[in-house]
Amino acid sequence: MKILVCGGAGFIGSAFIKNYLENNTSHEIKNLDNLAIGSNLQNLKEIENHSNYQFIKDDIKNQEIIDKLIKDADVTVNFAAESHVDRSISNPRPFIETNVLGTFSILEAIRKYKKQFIHVSTDEIYGDAKGKSSFNENSQINPSNPYAATKAAADHLVGSYHRTYGIKCITTRCTNNFGPNQFPEKLIPKTIIRAIKGLKVPLYGDGQQIRSWIYVYDHVKAIESLISQGNSGQVYNITAYEEITNKSIVEKILKILNKSNSMIEYVPDRPGHDKRYSIDSSKIETEIGWKPSFSFDLALENTVQWYIENQDWWEPLVDETTLHPQPWTLNWK
Ligand SMILES: NC(=O)c1ccc[n+]([C@@H]2O[C@H](COP(=O)([O-])OP(=O)(O)OC[C@H]3O[C@@H](n4cnc5c(N)ncnc54)[C@H](O)[C@@H]3O)[C@@H](O)[C@H]2O)c1
Repeated sequence: MKILVCGGAGFIGSAFIKNYLENNTSHEIKNLDNLAIGSNLQNLKEIENHSNYQFIKDDIKNQEIIDKLIKDADVTVNFAAESHVDRSISNPRPFIETNVLGTFSILEAIRKYKKQFIHVSTDEIYGDAKGKSSFNENSQINPSNPYAATKAAADHLVGSYHRTYGIKCITTRCTNNFGPNQFPEKLIPKTIIRAIKGLKVPLYGDGQQIRSWIYVYDHVKAIESLISQGNSGQVYNITAYEEITNKSIVEKILKILNKSNSMIEYVPDRPGHDKRYSIDSSKIETEIGWKPSFSFDLALENTVQWYIENQDWWEPLVDETTLHPQPWTLNWK
């Protein structure tokens, strides 16, 4: 099978490529990425010379190159996105361009060449989960920030292309990921790195925001299962059911690092910040048989250990902006 991965130099896309090539030795992967923020070719060092792997530096909005690559692939998996909520609050334009117009370019090629498409989306499109309820795949979409709104727009486009043109597609809506190679500006790596450096660790608002988390290797295995077993036109939520407050996560990280909770610094909350995300992923478990295999605590320990041992990976990426306590106040270009 020939797979086109878009955005494969980022955190989740690179984990997907490495995992997929290991499990499917005769399949071929082409990875198109424009090396925007969040990308790092170091993430793919161990497979850069693999005979079944090729990297192409380009943009998903480049219709000509996207047409050429999709024509030649059996399946396209799109991870390419502007992915940081804080940046979307400061400057939403690149999010609209990549997350909406970029998905549109891919869909046009998928429609033209009648190929299969896996659209990687997020649980953030559902917005705040009230009380104890969890969203399933039929729940109303209600995004709260520009990042989530652009991902929701892309989800609607994918759904409309399936209904109108009959394209073969699957949409995944996964919860918060963590693990090795995550760009330092996200909550877990930022907390680990700031704590290692002896800097105060910022918590937005009261730190009581609840998220559910998944180890990145469980997420990429779910996508791999959906390529071969997923039903076209369907949406699949993906979670490991680990609901936890941001404050608890930060405290767990500080404990693993033998640091005191006095390193925590409460900062004003992010505008539009959702209080709780919660999704139900029983559909992928019953239809496909996928289940998460890592416990949150063990995966968090592995992740902290990875950042301790891979300082040379993250040191060149950190500066005052990537480690900023309130990044949405910065003037992102
Ligand atoms: N990180 C999470 O917790 C999470 C959770 C659920 C869903 N997702 C989704 O998974 C996908 C990957 O997320 P991630 O955390 O790996 O993000 P990331 O920011 O680490 O990686 C995104 C990649 O896309 C590339 N890219 C951006 N714009 C591009 C363009 N116009 N053309 C080509 N490549 C482009 C970047 O260079 C980068 O390599 C995103 O679609 C995101 O919405 C992420």
